[in-house]
Amino acid sequence: MSDQLRPRASLRTAVVWEVLKDALDRQVKATGRDALDVLDTGGGTGNFAVPVARLGHRVTVVDPSPNALFALERRAAEAGVADRVRGVQGDIHGLFEVVERGGYDAVLCHGVLEYVDDPAEGVRNAVEALRPSGALSLLAAGLGGAVLARALAGHFTEARKALSDPAGRWGDGDPMPRRYTAEQLTELVSAADVEVGAVHGVRVFADLVPGALVDTEPGAMEALLKLEAAAAELPAFHSVATQLHVLGTKRA
Ligand SMILES: C[S@@+](CC[C@H](N)C(=O)[O-])C[C@H]1O[C@@H](n2cnc3c(N)ncnc32)[C@H](O)[C@@H]1O
Repeated sequence: MSDQLRPRASLRTAVVWEVLKDALDRQVKATGRDALDVLDTGGGTGNFAVPVARLGHRVTVVDPSPNALFALERRAAEAGVADRVRGVQGDIHGLFEVVERGGYDAVLCHGVLEYVDDPAEGVRNAVEALRPSGALSLLAAGLGGAVLARALAGHFTEARKALSDPAGRWGDGDPMPRRYTAEQLTELVSAADVEVGAVHGVRVFADLVPGALVDTEPGAMEALLKLEAAAAELPAFHSVATQLHVLGTKRA
């Protein structure tokens, strides 16, 4: 099944994808170049890299996992964009051992900051890979969404633990190493010389709604996608989103 035909996948990526597409369009207009140079740090199997390449841009994916890079290569080939996607084994902490400093019009850092040893250095490196006025797209796990999900599942003590834990974890069994508030993410990018353009809450409702409701009710998926899009930009919902997306521009 193609990426666009997987409804659940689109529920996870729709808000970020729309914001990212608009940001890339603005970069195309600002630079006067149709094909941008895009870096996807921790790009994994290409959930974003392959659709970005389908827009005509050249994408470099840096990821430490050889398995992910292998899957990326296959996916890019299946999508007919193998010539525009380059996978490189590497780490965001040693980014400039494998890619050029200041060589990219846009840098994606999606679902990575949760796992890195030094998030501030990770963001600084992502920004240093940008050309002046380049776009940074940062996506990371949100603290409030996890607290809400634990509480709604009846795990009240875990929910409270996540609230007070410095890394936002609900316990030893929590698979997520670190979560963020919108304020923490915007502080990280501002400190790295990025002007924050927009913050979006991602998966505000999707993870809380029973799957059967969305999969069987006619029109429910489309309605939920529209609801997610409408709530994403409202600051009130940032504090309960599963993920937070920050879009910024490197100061010239
Ligand atoms: C949750 S996946 C996200 C993949 C992709 N960005 C996406 O949005 O679908 C996290 C990815 O980060 C990569 N990763 C983990 N630690 C990293 C590091 N220190 N530097 C770069 N990538 C890292 C993993 O190999 C994995 O592919």
